[in-house]
Amino acid sequence: MFASVERFEIIPDITRIIEPNSSELSTNKREGSLSMKEEAERIGMPEHWRPPKIEGEWGNKSFISVEQLTANDFAEIVNMATRIRDTRMSKEQRALFELKSWLFPLSMQTAFYEPSTRTRTSFEAAAQILGLDVVSNPDMIRMSSFSKGETVADNAIVMGEISPVIVQRHPEVGAAAIAAFALQSMTRCDGTKPRVINAGDGIGEHPSQALLDITTIIWEKRLKNANDLHRLHIGMLGDLKHGRTVHSLTKSLNCMGGPAVFYFISPEQLSMPQPIIESLTRGGQSEVVVTGDLAEVLPSLDVLYVTRIQNERFKDLDECRRYENLYRITPEIMKEAKKDLTLIHPLPRRGEIDPRVDSDPRAAYFRQVGNGVDVRMALLCCMFDRPYPNFRNWYK
Ligand code: CP
Repeated sequence: MFASVERFEIIPDITRIIEPNSSELSTNKREGSLSMKEEAERIGMPEHWRPPKIEGEWGNKSFISVEQLTANDFAEIVNMATRIRDTRMSKEQRALFELKSWLFPLSMQTAFYEPSTRTRTSFEAAAQILGLDVVSNPDMIRMSSFSKGETVADNAIVMGEISPVIVQRHPEVGAAAIAAFALQSMTRCDGTKPRVINAGDGIGEHPSQALLDITTIIWEKRLKNANDLHRLHIGMLGDLKHGRTVHSLTKSLNCMGGPAVFYFISPEQLSMPQPIIESLTRGGQSEVVVTGDLAEVLPSLDVLYVTRIQNERFKDLDECRRYENLYRITPEIMKEAKKDLTLIHPLPRRGEIDPRVDSDPRAAYFRQVGNGVDVRMALLCCMFDRPYPNFRNWYK
């Protein structure tokens, strides 16, 4: 069950700045629309362009990659989410009422070019709890003017005129950068600058998922500071090649000093991209183990992050099917794991976790979804530059 962590502390001398991302803009074309590379050329976006680093200043900046964050930025979100969770659990009426008007009368738009259950609904729930008006676009591909050939960049500018924050998901790498670049020179009539939050861009990144995954590990393991994180043995299992959540989480953990050991467990063809592994081994503190053998490493793990085979990223579905039943976490497998293992998964799952495991107290993947609301509330408070107060002290 959830346990409050008073304040998560970063110990400065173990923080790591992560390597620049080498992810390429997608050249995939959808009928009637431009590829991300063509969109970038159209708006004059330089190659590998990124919005500025956050470094404690969230206001007016798009958030498209965990590479914009420092270890202290991660700690700020974790600590704010913890205070938000405590407030919501306390059911203190005055505090809850204050929460409801925290970001009133601003608005947030969701623009999803790719399906989602958790990310869109938890952003929308988080926004509504904070008093934001929500404009929801769950199917941009079919139900927006994208279907008539409007570009991602133009869509972002249009939405930026309507709401100051856009939460965007797209199936192609670089779509979040395109939207952020298109928005950067805009100023709205109220003087604010519109921004985009990357809710997943193809096999690129899913940075708000990384924030909630980090927070879940810290809460489940009741960690007090980043030194404690460094004691953990963390395994990631499944399609590590196409899984954007594992890319963002690995970079995030590394930025915070890293676990004792990263275990990347996958078939060789779906292994963690080499540039990410190299960024860990080059001067990083963590040991890195790359293996296909779950049974060999499972007894060592404190955290196991399971991911599904990303069938929508394969051109050849026969190839995809070859990997689908390679790993399956069952109650029998769980007997080989530590008594205090934390088992997480970004979801949706397919066959990789047997539903009989759901009742195991170590299975934290549904709690992880709920944590997404608190973490996204914290992120929205930061993006709107209204840091959330410590209600418990405030109302004493
Ligand atoms: N974890 C995650 O991104 O889930 P959705 O695809 O349902 O948003």
